[in-house]
Amino acid sequence: MEIVRAIGDVRSHLAGVRKAGLRIGFVPTMGFLHAGHLSLVEESKKYSEIQVMSIFVNRIQFNDPKDFENYPVDLERDFALACDAGVELMFVPDEREMYRDRLAYVDVDVLTDNLCGARRPGHFRGVFTVVSKLFNIVQPDVSVFGQKDIQQAVSIEKMVGDLDFPVRIIIAPTVREDDGLAMSSRNARLSPDERNRALAISRSLRKAEELLRSGERGSEAITTAMRKIIEDSNPTSIDYISVVRYADLQFADVIREKSVIAAAVFYGATRLIDNMIVDMDGGGPRCLY
Ligand code: PAF
Repeated sequence: MEIVRAIGDVRSHLAGVRKAGLRIGFVPTMGFLHAGHLSLVEESKKYSEIQVMSIFVNRIQFNDPKDFENYPVDLERDFALACDAGVELMFVPDEREMYRDRLAYVDVDVLTDNLCGARRPGHFRGVFTVVSKLFNIVQPDVSVFGQKDIQQAVSIEKMVGDLDFPVRIIIAPTVREDDGLAMSSRNARLSPDERNRALAISRSLRKAEELLRSGERGSEAITTAMRKIIEDSNPTSIDYISVVRYADLQFADVIREKSVIAAAVFYGATRLIDNMIVDMDGGGPRCLY
């Protein structure tokens, strides 16, 4: 695996790849890799021959400076994991390389109105800006994002469509620990007790599935049942438990079409998110989480 830090080196490395007619798959990350990230690389291999990953902790997407400062970093471990997973080019820019100047930003309306968009001002603008830059640097054929960050993934899909980025976006399923906790680099910051209590989030999604299967379609009934489970786990605070339509991520009172049930909860200083996609095609609810 080649590790490069300069934009010019990414371009020159990939020029040959493109000339050889090989498709480029790209997984942007903020590092502290786990099995969830590696599953994105596996997914990317289905659509491309050359795997590129970036690691860049993007300050401008952190609405809370403390969250940025505490973001876990272990580059040596990341390099070993990415290399084993088949990543051929690793782009690890520093801040000066990425933000020589910072007056231009990219944003997406509507899809960012609710959920994390409402709770983390400026967050998505930072994400779309860095992802646009990374797409322009790497120029991938395909890029894979995890369902865990569903609002990010759906909005990036819209961004590349509206702005004509020639890249296909794939949304890959959330990878979970054996006990149901959605994998996240932030899990490393949970104390054993917080981690244990945080299992209530995935438990609440299982409850939502149970209710949907028994015929419940009302968002209020579903989120109330989820809230009870999460409140019983003594969270530090609940940011949101919401039901939105998949198409535009606007609130839905009743689940009639493809939807997302999503939660964001703090345990201590760590904010965890999780979600379930509810697909109503074919008559019944198909729950993906
Ligand atoms: O999902 C993430 O890790 C980040 O938001 C991303 C897409 C790498 C942009 O910084």
